[in-house]
Amino acid sequence: MWRLSVSIFLFSCLAVSSSSYGDSEATCSGIVPLRYRYDKISITEYGGVGDGRTVNTKAFRAAIYRIQHLKRRGGTLLYIPPGVYLTESFNLTSHMTFYLAKGAVIRAVQDTWNWPLIDPLPSYGRGRELPGGRYMSFIHGDGLRDVVITGQNGTIDGQGEVWWNMWRSRTLKYTRPNLIEFKDSKEIIISNVIFQNSPFWNIHPVYCSNVVIHHVTILAPQDSPNTDGIDPDSSYNVCIEDSYISTGDDLVAIKSGWDEYGIAYGRPSSNITIRRITGSSPFAGIAIGSETSGGIKNIVAEHITLSNMGVGVNIKTNIGRGGYIKNIKISDVYIDTAKYGIKIAGDTGDHPDENYNPNALPIVKGIHIKNVWGVNVRNAGSIQGLKGSPFTGICLSEINLHGSLNSYKTWKCSDVIGTSLKVSPWPCSELRTTGGYNLCSSTF
Ligand SMILES: *[C@@H]1O[C@H](CO)[C@@H](O)[C@H](O)[C@H]1NC(C)=O
Ligand SMILES: *[C@@H]1O[C@H](CO)[C@@H](O)[C@H](O)[C@H]1NC(C)=O
Ligand SMILES: *[C@@H]1O[C@H](CO)[C@@H](O)[C@H](O)[C@H]1NC(C)=O
Repeated sequence: MWRLSVSIFLFSCLAVSSSSYGDSEATCSGIVPLRYRYDKISITEYGGVGDGRTVNTKAFRAAIYRIQHLKRRGGTLLYIPPGVYLTESFNLTSHMTFYLAKGAVIRAVQDTWNWPLIDPLPSYGRGRELPGGRYMSFIHGDGLRDVVITGQNGTIDGQGEVWWNMWRSRTLKYTRPNLIEFKDSKEIIISNVIFQNSPFWNIHPVYCSNVVIHHVTILAPQDSPNTDGIDPDSSYNVCIEDSYISTGDDLVAIKSGWDEYGIAYGRPSSNITIRRITGSSPFAGIAIGSETSGGIKNIVAEHITLSNMGVGVNIKTNIGRGGYIKNIKISDVYIDTAKYGIKIAGDTGDHPDENYNPNALPIVKGIHIKNVWGVNVRNAGSIQGLKGSPFTGICLSEINLHGSLNSYKTWKCSDVIGTSLKVSPWPCSELRTTGGYNLCSSTF
């Protein structure tokens, strides 16, 4: 019996590695070392009470203060047992693992009056929603290294409704808090956690490197405003995989700063891998932009399964952004029901103020999209570049976007140069079907 199961195991490994989908087995779990923490503490030792009513801010701050100042060799694990822990926002520290047991819920208070404010990001020049500072993320990390957030699928709950209602009634004073943000940090792992009802974006790594986010679940209602799933921003070596995301805005959106502030700060997003993501949203599945001013390059997204979407793949930028979007490879995308399959646009998003430079045109170059299959897709695609900066090297291959009866069976293209092969419905004359294709395929 034992021998039998071993040989079945071996056989299935061989079968997988020899299949043409060998790529789908790739993983980034080894990129950030997962350190074993010998030192372990529990939030209950610091006065934490998981009754859903006690406010535990002091307990979280005290436990994290202890980790920061005792500096145990190899770092410390902070254990959150089952229970509902209400708390105000707090900062993490370096060399720690934040471990949520099965049934552990960390829940944000709804006290928007006393929520701490922090400085705007230099690459945005102001809060993303409103001028001035921004509310600190519910869980915040600034200048950290070696942080793990994991466990047995416990929940981090932003109770965002009160914030969404303030947005709806236009009573917000500053930009809403993210559920979790890491700024200027490296060696970050987030896995096996459920994020729900974020006030604003869910997970925001900004000016970070070596970040792995996998086996997470991110949930927010379809009508919750700006609840992006994961937004890598001016960060490099980021890997996002094996996750389910269903929110009210883009599932994954890669960004790099906003107009003149982003251009001046000049911090690109690069070397980002996104794979095996499943989800649903009224906005985009895989998005790049619209804040692209520091540049975005070397991005791979593959094995993406989407349903009930606004847009499957959406690359979006605007005049005034400057910067570039280049060497983007997106493949093996399955879309069931969407308004748009693929949309690449140069007229998306707002400006921070009137001082943006209308002559700062983004460069969009080298976008390869391959193996996309869609059913019930209303508009197959639209690629509309900028008059003064046409999008070039746009290569589409093996794309099949089926509509419903009342859908538009044509693509819209303007100011774009590229190639296409086996694209149905037939895209547009700007994407030549002969000649340049080898140029595309050789680099994919
Ligand atoms: C948390 O970090 C922010 C940003 O670095 C800082 O402004 C704030 O004072 C910190 N809060 C606490 C309670 O340490
Ligand atoms: C947590 O949920 C993820 C995503 O559904 C799943 O892949 C993972 O196996 C679960 N982990 C645990 C420890 O239950
Ligand atoms: C790109 O990121 C991956 C992890 O996603 C890493 O293994 C690789 O070394 C990085 N490449 C460079 C050039 O930094």
